[in-house]
Amino acid sequence: MKLAVLGGSFNPLHLGHLYLADSALLAFHFDRLILVPAYVSPFKRHDPGARQGQKPLPAETEPPSAEPPLGEAAPPCQASPEDRLDMILASVTGDPRISVEDLELRRGGVSYTIDTLTEIIDRYRPEQHPALILGDDLAAGFSKWKQAEELARRADIIIARRIPGPGKPENPDFPFRHRFLHNKVLDISSAMVRDRIARKKAWRYLVPPGARLIIEERGLYGAIPVYGTGQTNAPGVPADLSRIVRVEDAVREILSPSRFIHSRNTALMARDLARRWGLDQGAAYLAGIAHDMAKPLDPEALLALAQEDGKEISPLEQKNPGLLHGRAAAVLLQKYFGIHNRDVLEAVAFHTTGKKDMPDLARAVFIADKIEFSRPAVPSRLRDLAGQENGGSGELLRAVAEYTVRWLKARGLEVAEETLELLDKAGKNGETP
Ligand SMILES: [Fe+2]
Ligand SMILES: [Fe+2]
Repeated sequence: MKLAVLGGSFNPLHLGHLYLADSALLAFHFDRLILVPAYVSPFKRHDPGARQGQKPLPAETEPPSAEPPLGEAAPPCQASPEDRLDMILASVTGDPRISVEDLELRRGGVSYTIDTLTEIIDRYRPEQHPALILGDDLAAGFSKWKQAEELARRADIIIARRIPGPGKPENPDFPFRHRFLHNKVLDISSAMVRDRIARKKAWRYLVPPGARLIIEERGLYGAIPVYGTGQTNAPGVPADLSRIVRVEDAVREILSPSRFIHSRNTALMARDLARRWGLDQGAAYLAGIAHDMAKPLDPEALLALAQEDGKEISPLEQKNPGLLHGRAAAVLLQKYFGIHNRDVLEAVAFHTTGKKDMPDLARAVFIADKIEFSRPAVPSRLRDLAGQENGGSGELLRAVAEYTVRWLKARGLEVAEETLELLDKAGKNGETP
C-alpha cells in the first residue's frame, strides 16, 4: 500500500487541507492518505478554550527541537482536540482514500513526527517508505526537527506549496531527498476561518459541510448557529443541527427534486413563522423538511405505518390512504430518526388536513405547506399575511384554511372533517394568535 501522511492542527479543517490531500493523492497515486491531527501544535500558544465546559489545553513552551505541523499563525484555540477530530471525521465521509489517525491526540502533549511516522510504519507495514507531506513554509526548519535525518531517511518527503502563487514550492536549501508537489493552493487558512467566525464575517463555505455543522452546533470559535432557538426549547427538541441534516439528507433521497424543493420551502417558511411567533426555529424547520417524507409510499405501507401511532383510521383515511402520509411520516421520524418531540411529531402528523386547536408549531407547518413560494397560484394576499413581521397566527390560519377548503372543493375533492372543524374554529376565534 502506498501511504501518505498529512499532519496539522486542523483548527479547523478547511477546504484548503482537503484540496491539498486530493492533489497529493492524484499526483502521486497514493492508496491512502492519513490525516494526523496534532494534539497541540508546539509552535503555537493555545488559550484554554473560551467555550464553556471545555477542558483547558496544557500550557506549552516551545521545545527547541519540536516541529510545527503544516501550520498557520496562532490565535487562541477554542476547539478541543475532540472537536478537531470530530470535524475531520465528519468531513471525509465517503472518501475511502483518506483515513484519520488520532494517535497524537491519544498520546497527548507534544508529538514528534518521527514518533508518529514510526508508529504508522509499525502498524500499516507499507512496502515503501510512507510519504510525508510538508508545507514549504515548514521545510526551512526541518533540520531542527527531532531526528531529522532519520525522518528523512524513513519518509518520502514531499514539499507542497502553502501560499498561493505561481511557480514551484519554495525550497530554502532543503538538504534532504525530497519531491515537490506542484499544487494549486486555495487561499484559505485555519487562522482566517477562525478570525472570520469571530468577526461575524462569511466563513461557512470555506470548510467542508461536516465541519461547518460541528462548528455551528458547538459554537466553536464564537460561531452562532443559523437556526437560532426559540423560547420553547422543550426537552427532546432537536436543537442539534446534525439531526436536522440527517433527516434532510434522507428526505432529499426519498423525494423527487420538485417535492423536495416544496419540502425545503415549507421548512423555510415554517421557520420564518416560528421566529416571529417565538417558537423553536430548529423544530419548525425539521417538521417542515420532514412533513412529506412518506408521500411516495404506497397505500398499504401508509396504512400500516400510520396505525403505529395508535390512533384510529377515519373512514375518509380508509378510503384515501394518501391522507395518512403525515401520520406515517411522524412514525418514521420516531422509529428511524429518534425524534420524539411532540410538537414536531404533531406538526408533521396534522399537516395534511390540519386540526382544530393545533399547537403553534403545527399551525406554522400547516400554513407553510399550503402557501410556500413554489406553490403556483397561491393568492398573494396569503403570502402578504404570512410575511407580516408582527402578524399573529389567527388571521393567517383562517385565511389559509379557507383557501384550502376552496381549493379542494374546486377540484371536487372531499374535505376532511378536521379541516372543516379547523376552519370553523379559526373563523370564530378570528385574530386569536
Ligand atoms: Fe403533505
Ligand atoms: Fe407538503
